Amino acid sequence: MDTDHKPVDELEIFKKILNRTDEGVNVVDKNGVLIYVNRVSAEYCNSRPAEMVGRQIEDFYPNAVLLNVIRTKKAVLGEKIHFVGKKKYVCSSFPIEFGGKFYGAYSVFRDVQEIEDLNRRVRYLEMQVSLTKPEKDMDSVVNYGGTLNEVFNKAKRAVGSIGGPRHSIITGESGTGKTMLANLMYNYAKKIGVIAENAPFIEINCAQFTNPDIAAMEIFGSEEGAYTGSKKKQGLFEQAHGGILFLDEAHTLENYQNLLLKAIESGKIRRIGGGKDISINVIIIAASTRDLKDVLLPELYQRLAQYEMYLPSLRERSREEKELLFSHFVKKYEQAVMEAHNISYHVKFTPEAREMLLRAVYPRNVRQFRDVINYSIDSSSPLIEDIAGQNEIVNTVTAKDIPFDIAEIEIPDEIKTKKESQPKEEKITPAVEKLIDKMINEGKGPRKISNELKSMGYPIEYYKVAYYIKINKK
Ligand SMILES: Nc1ncnc2c1ncn2[C@@H]1O[C@H](COP(=O)(O)OP(=O)(O)OP(=O)(O)O)[C@@H](O)[C@H]1O
Ligand SMILES: [Mg+2]
Repeated sequence: MDTDHKPVDELEIFKKILNRTDEGVNVVDKNGVLIYVNRVSAEYCNSRPAEMVGRQIEDFYPNAVLLNVIRTKKAVLGEKIHFVGKKKYVCSSFPIEFGGKFYGAYSVFRDVQEIEDLNRRVRYLEMQVSLTKPEKDMDSVVNYGGTLNEVFNKAKRAVGSIGGPRHSIITGESGTGKTMLANLMYNYAKKIGVIAENAPFIEINCAQFTNPDIAAMEIFGSEEGAYTGSKKKQGLFEQAHGGILFLDEAHTLENYQNLLLKAIESGKIRRIGGGKDISINVIIIAASTRDLKDVLLPELYQRLAQYEMYLPSLRERSREEKELLFSHFVKKYEQAVMEAHNISYHVKFTPEAREMLLRAVYPRNVRQFRDVINYSIDSSSPLIEDIAGQNEIVNTVTAKDIPFDIAEIEIPDEIKTKKESQPKEEKITPAVEKLIDKMINEGKGPRKISNELKSMGYPIEYYKVAYYIKINKK
């Protein structure tokens, strides 16, 4: 047994450990002079421990909680977020006392910027999902003046007629709602019990395959050794059994139209390289931006086209319908903000901005219309960090928030000059800056400042004051 170990310097061991932790550690004496700084803390200030030790903590952390702890000799547990420049951290600080004697204080802090960024990202993604969330049923889709009545009638018949469901075709330009309609048909089929509640909806984008052999194996499945290295695999057709198979961009089917026709005619498929027939029961919905009559084998077209639905482009829809779509997407945005941030958000548009959005040409139709509206609202909205604590916000989208390529539309002067309904400019002018500065010095917070400014006739929202303070008073 080795008994020859040297006496260990415990302090050195502790220092080593403290340098390895992910938390920042500062220790000060009772005068606020740093007597220990670990690696994380030094990195936080872009400095080195050796340069920091011996100096006042406020040289590096201007608002250090440790200064309070020295004064009050009481611990402060971290809940509040502190800033060093743009970095954010949560900090707990404790007094150091031995035998009733006060020596100083130490703090342990943790960076929360990363967590905040992550949270923000998650919330952003959630927002995007709810903004692009398709409508659940035919009743919640915008259908002004019954533009889509005929389409919906056929859609219902295709999946729900008494003689059993049929395959069908949806055509229309990109972004007119083909995928949406296929999903509505799926939901409708479930609602009326034609397919089970947990029935599959399998979507295949036929254009995604560059190699026809791989496409065939993906769709029809394969048995081991069908091609070199190929595995036993269930195809998408089989996966759709009992539900809906949505063949998007069906005009690119070319290479395997025959296999598809056979599957439809016989109700059976055979995996590539396999010898066994497998019975499949699926409702096929084929979608395309092209007229499928021109591109599919006539027999296949006939099999699919018993119900053919055409979705009109945005250009073919009335001004009133566009207005309804417009309000629909704005409301969706407001709801998404409510869900993500619990804020009741009211989006308004200046007459000019609204007119630009309604008159623009959208080659990618409803989807693009929706995306441009969302983008414009995004661009005019306050930052999340500037709205903390508020539960109601009114926001106005102006012409400058609209994306550049759309913004080139000519708007008649009478709409541009209809300024009376536009809100008063809520800019922080130099005069307002002076007022804000004065109120900050009086120890007032952004909310109080905003209220006082409003009572003085400057309608400046709380988050704008908070933003001004953040940018200018660091
Ligand atoms: N009548 C409508 N009411 C409400 N929203 C609609 C309507 N029509 C389309 N949309 C919206 O437009 C979006 C785009 O539609 P969709 O993705 O279904 O178009 P698509 O025809 O499948 O386009 P692509 O050919 O590019 O695949 C949908 O997610 C939906 O939110
Ligand atoms: Mg689609």
